[in-house]
Amino acid sequence: MAEIKETNGIVDWLDERLAVRKLAKVLMTEYWIPKNINFLWAMGIVLMVTFMLLFVSGLMLLAYYKPDVALAFDSVNKTIMQDVGLGWLWRHMHAVGASLIFLVIYIHMFTAIYYGSYKKTREIIWITGMLLFVTFSAEAFSGYMLPWGQMSYWAATVITGLFENVPLVGEDLLVWLRGNFFVADATLTRFFMLHVVLLPISIMGIIALHFYSLRIPHVNNQEGEEIDFDEESKKFLDGNKKESKVIRFFPDFLSKDIFVLCIYLIFFFLLVGFSYNFAMDPINFEPANNLKTPAHIYPEWYFLWSYEILRGFFFDIPQGWWIGLDFLPKIPAMTIGLLAFGFANFIFFLLPFLDRSKVVAPAHKRGAFVVWFWLLLIDMIILTIWGKLPPEGINNVIGFIASMTFIGLFIALPIITIKERNKDKREAK
Ligand code: HEM
Repeated sequence: MAEIKETNGIVDWLDERLAVRKLAKVLMTEYWIPKNINFLWAMGIVLMVTFMLLFVSGLMLLAYYKPDVALAFDSVNKTIMQDVGLGWLWRHMHAVGASLIFLVIYIHMFTAIYYGSYKKTREIIWITGMLLFVTFSAEAFSGYMLPWGQMSYWAATVITGLFENVPLVGEDLLVWLRGNFFVADATLTRFFMLHVVLLPISIMGIIALHFYSLRIPHVNNQEGEEIDFDEESKKFLDGNKKESKVIRFFPDFLSKDIFVLCIYLIFFFLLVGFSYNFAMDPINFEPANNLKTPAHIYPEWYFLWSYEILRGFFFDIPQGWWIGLDFLPKIPAMTIGLLAFGFANFIFFLLPFLDRSKVVAPAHKRGAFVVWFWLLLIDMIILTIWGKLPPEGINNVIGFIASMTFIGLFIALPIITIKERNKDKREAK
């Protein structure tokens, strides 16, 4: 057993038992962050705090929520919203948090794409980040069902219904997912289990992995500069703080993060108190009714881009489009839409491998890549806007073109980045 000395205060006492000083050094005071970064690098901490707010508000809601089709709607809209003191506050926090976390996730993702932070040695950070995106999507979808309003019911019916189109096992898979032949009590209770137990636990585990994968490569910086962290941290510790290219995670970097976080929290609570409607669909304030289909069924804003890709292929393609292609077997539009939807959700995982250029640099210093970046962003915004419009007339054509553009951009990426790599090689000679 290690030698236990007389301790001098609680920190000493803990240090002898848990090596807390060493832990604080490794994780905080000697974990190094580049100086050359901007406020966009605070988004990781903003996400962490939003997740904590979602977790705490979720626990509060759980104290009164009832996962039963006969009771769920009233437990949310009456008990929590009207009877329980401050119940409305926790619900607004949960709904606003769910919407904002996606906004911040998209900003965080597009920052990483712009600065090439998914490239060599940072691939696992990117992949664990994408796993977080997928688990958060499942978390949001399962949570949307819980109030058992009209949109909860019909979104669940439409989205689980998609699985029926999976070849061979589709019908069995659908019944297994729903726990019944239609969306019913068993569906609500299994989505409740996913939302409050399995997915939050998975998210916490993946966040830990995401942080751990930052350990060796460290965070990127605005210029994509490769920093020798050992050398630069030595300069810092020797007192040459000005010369050093790095700062400590705590207290230096965290104090900047906290400044950005405070501004974010002001907006967060302004929305919670005064403008929460954007995060709650009015149709969902009507109880679920399996005999009354809403005029338009659409998901929350953060799923609209991929929903539009799914729908982009559902309309009857005008005859003229197929001229000369009649020899091809006709694939049902639903299957094409599902394939495109799968592609849209999976392709981001492959980004580190589709980008063939080795240079880590901001997009504006990477030639054609900057055009690719802005086209992707604009295309996803167009898909998001059109995802909410009714699928008729010109909307179908725009949705189809935007979906094809999305797929085309990812096919073009390796070609553009191979050209970039060859050009860099020629210039290096
Ligand atoms: C709730 C979810 C998430 C949390 C809590 C989180 C947290 C963090 C934190 C604290 C950092 C370091 C500081 C910073 O760059 O902000 C970071 C970096 C990073 N994250 Fe996330 N993240 C999440 C989701 C994602 C997603 C969805 C992606 C993209 C697929 C992603 C990709 C990255 C990348 C590539 C970096 C490295 C950035 C760099 O080196 O400059 N993260 N994340």
